[in-house]
Amino acid sequence: MNTPTTILTIFVFLFPLAFCLDSPAPAPSAPVSVSTPAPAPAPTHGGHALIDKACAESPRKEFCLSLLKSFPESQTADLKGLVFLTFKAIANNATAASKRIKALLNDSIAEPAIDDGLSTCDDAYLDLVNQIDDSVNSLVSDKFGEIKTWLMAAIADIDTCAGGLQGHGGSAVDMIRRNRVIRQLCNTALSIVRALGPD
Ligand SMILES: *[C@@H]1O[C@H](CO)[C@@H](O)[C@H](O)[C@H]1NC(C)=O
Ligand SMILES: *[C@@H]1O[C@H](CO)[C@@H](O)[C@H](O)[C@H]1NC(C)=O
Repeated sequence: MNTPTTILTIFVFLFPLAFCLDSPAPAPSAPVSVSTPAPAPAPTHGGHALIDKACAESPRKEFCLSLLKSFPESQTADLKGLVFLTFKAIANNATAASKRIKALLNDSIAEPAIDDGLSTCDDAYLDLVNQIDDSVNSLVSDKFGEIKTWLMAAIADIDTCAGGLQGHGGSAVDMIRRNRVIRQLCNTALSIVRALGPD
């Protein structure tokens, strides 16, 4: 199975969905008023008030806020849409990491001592991709409790990979850094899912 292709396939479906979820109006990019200081009612769609709400329970609030604000679509997304966007960031990062692992494993002059760890990571990332795939399905069917289970499993996969690389230098350093980013993204997704409420 080709992991990057699998992830891309997920997002061919996911991405239009992220837009459908929250758009009563057909316009893909509604004009955003940046200067009108309208009194904020309970936020349901887009904007910084909703992003604040989404990140309220995040253990790393600044990371969460800047991540969500970095998505242009976050201006018009609802909470579920914000979770989709975070899943997309996880999948993009996981695809890149998976490609990197495969390239390192394929490189005959790579450090042989790291190969065991990289093979562990290769399997772990394959599993992680499945967890994100399952998370998307659970989000679609509003099974928020299930998403928490999948995301915890994804975090366990990242830790399995990290465990295999621990103590190594060289190309392991870059993978350890990638792991950290993806772990942070998964924790952020978890915290936003908590803001969605109980299943
Ligand atoms: C990984 O996610 C971060 C957000 O934390 C993003 O800025 C970056 O572009 C992503 N990397 C890839 C390869 O998608
Ligand atoms: C693996 O290595 C071979 C020979 O070095 C190269 O031709 C091939 O493109 C590589 N495959 C990947 C997936 O990097």
